[in-house]
Amino acid sequence: MWFTRRKSPLQREASISPENILEVRDLKVNINVDDYVLNAVRGVSFSMKKGETLGLVGESGCGKSVTSKTVLGINPSNCTAEGTIAFRKKNGEIVNLLSLEQDGDEFRAIRGAEIAMIFQEPMTAFSPLYTIGNQLGEIIRLHEPEVGKAAVRDRVLAMLKKVGIANPEKRIDQYPHEFSGGMLQRALIAMMLCCNPDFLIADEPTTALDVTIQAQILELMKSLQREFGMSILFITHDLGTVANMCDNVAVMYLGEIVEYGSVQQIFHNPQHPYTRGLLRSLPKMDQNREEKLFVIDGMVPLPVNMKPCCGFHERCTVCIKGRCDVANIDLMNVEQGHSVRCLRMEEGGAR
Ligand SMILES: Nc1ncnc2c1ncn2[C@@H]1O[C@H](COP(=O)(O)OP(=O)(O)OP(=O)(O)O)[C@@H](O)[C@H]1O
Ligand SMILES: [Mg+2]
Repeated sequence: MWFTRRKSPLQREASISPENILEVRDLKVNINVDDYVLNAVRGVSFSMKKGETLGLVGESGCGKSVTSKTVLGINPSNCTAEGTIAFRKKNGEIVNLLSLEQDGDEFRAIRGAEIAMIFQEPMTAFSPLYTIGNQLGEIIRLHEPEVGKAAVRDRVLAMLKKVGIANPEKRIDQYPHEFSGGMLQRALIAMMLCCNPDFLIADEPTTALDVTIQAQILELMKSLQREFGMSILFITHDLGTVANMCDNVAVMYLGEIVEYGSVQQIFHNPQHPYTRGLLRSLPKMDQNREEKLFVIDGMVPLPVNMKPCCGFHERCTVCIKGRCDVANIDLMNVEQGHSVRCLRMEEGGAR
């Protein structure tokens, strides 16, 4: 069942800036596992404008998917969440998504029609038992029951055409196993766009595809975004994709956003030691082939019963012992629209 337990009843109404479609404020998500608690998201805040693409990047286990699943209300029942997720609905109403029952009618109406999500592995998003046309049509039937059978089929055909599936009249009646991986991802994008959502979460949408198909899918998402004016939360490990797709970037580490800025700021003026490490680990065109790629030592630890500290301190080469490992670090503004969670900013940044 889809629901995340709340610590206490939350207020339904929420405020939001006029230009924003989503504001996540101080989001904390804990996952109760057997005899311990994972602090998977530890106070995440960000906002998104209409039509903006925000890249959420960071290594495996940083809390990117838990954050996005909380927005969509599909966390498992062993999760508790607190904070505010203010969302502007199509009818103009602002609602705190965290206050809604996640398996209730209102959230069901929002999920799919207003907020949609594309997952990493398209095969798992489709049932092998029904045709592609049937599964795409289901979304329209669910959210717009007044639309007739023939009109649903026409809309599905038009959507399949739009995402570049050749011969859609034949493909619409085929089963998922008859589609290639790239075609399935296109079909999944078509399914998510059937009800014209304002907000799309794309969680590693191209990781399972080969490079040429990846490029095609990214181009497709860009052109559909231009056409429909959606906001996209784009989750990826791939910084190259971020540079190509996003307006702004939030770098996540161990459940916190450690750096936030425009693509320009993050790529040309990275400040957090973690962001710098991620960028240094990218291969460069002019790099000597013999030269080894930079590696950030260690791994993302499990965020079990986290004490206040900078989550990155154990792997950080410029950690200040007695400060970074004993207290949470606040985000500091370094320039307009660019903030960093690092004590080294007090002395002009990590070198
Ligand atoms: N259902 C779950 N039960 C237990 N732990 C979970 C569950 N889902 C996520 N976690 C843990 O929460 C933390 C954050 O996980 P999350 O899936 O958000 O990472 P991620 O940044 O999306 O990683 P990836 O890049 O591998 O997808 C991890 O430590 C993960 O092990
Ligand atoms: Mg993930």
